[in-house]
Amino acid sequence: MSGLHPEAVRPLLTGRLGQPYLYRESCGSTQELLDPALDEGAVAVCDHQTSGRGRLGRSWAAPAGSALLCSVLLRPPAGRRSAELSLVMGLAVAETVESLGAGMTEIKWPNDVMLAGRKLAGVLAEARADSVVLGVGLNVNQTEEQLPAGPRYPATSLFTHDGVTRERAPILARLLERLEERYEGWRARGLEAMLEEIRARDFLGGRTVRVSGVAGRARGIDRHGRLEIATDDGLKRIESGEVDYAR
Ligand code: BTN
Repeated sequence: MSGLHPEAVRPLLTGRLGQPYLYRESCGSTQELLDPALDEGAVAVCDHQTSGRGRLGRSWAAPAGSALLCSVLLRPPAGRRSAELSLVMGLAVAETVESLGAGMTEIKWPNDVMLAGRKLAGVLAEARADSVVLGVGLNVNQTEEQLPAGPRYPATSLFTHDGVTRERAPILARLLERLEERYEGWRARGLEAMLEEIRARDFLGGRTVRVSGVAGRARGIDRHGRLEIATDDGLKRIESGEVDYAR
C-alpha cells in the first residue's frame, strides 16, 4: 500500500485544502505541525502519533499506518462561531465514509462520527491566534483488537465494520474535497448551509442525555450548533460539553 506519502496524495487533491501538504511518518500530534502563519488550507498528516490528542485532555491512539490522522489549518471569517467547525468536519467525514459504501453514519454532537452505534471518528478543534486547527482521527484499517480498549463508548473502524482493508490516500483526498465544499458553505451561510444534512444524521436526537449538568431528552441541533435538550424546566441549549446518553 502506498500510504499517505506526498507522492500518493498530492495527485489526488483537487482543491485548496492540502496546499501545502505536510507529511511525517511519525510525530507527536498532527495538531502541532501547523504553524498558524501557514496558508489557510495547510494539511498535516502522519502515520503514527506518539502523543495524539483527544478532546478534554484525553489521548488518541492508533497503530502506525492504520488510521487517518489529519489536521487542517482554517482561518474562519470574523462573525462565525469556530465551535461550529467540529460539526462541519463531522459532516464531511460522514459524507466521505458514506461515499465509500461503508454504510450510513451518524453525527454525535459535538464531535464524533458513529457507525452502527460505535465511534468511528473524532474531531478536535483548537484555536491558534486567528486560526483553527481542525483535527480528525478516522479509524480505517484497525482490527477489533487494535481499537482503543475501554473507551467510554465502544469504538469501531471501517475494517471492523465490513472487513474491507482500504487505502487511506483516496479517503483523505475525498475528505478534503468534502470538507472544502462544506467549509465554503459555512463561510458563506454558517451552519444553515448544511443543517438539514447534519440533522438527518443526528445520533442523539430523541435519546435521554445528560450534559453539563442538564438532563433531559435531546431534541436536536440548532443553527448555531448547540444541542437542544427538552428538560422538566423547558428547552435548554448547550454550547459544548461531554454527553452521557442512554443506550
Ligand atoms: C476526540 O474524539 O476526542 C477527538 C480526537 C481527535 C484525534 C485527531 S488525530 C489527528 C489530530 N491530531 C491529534 O493529536 N488529535 C487529532
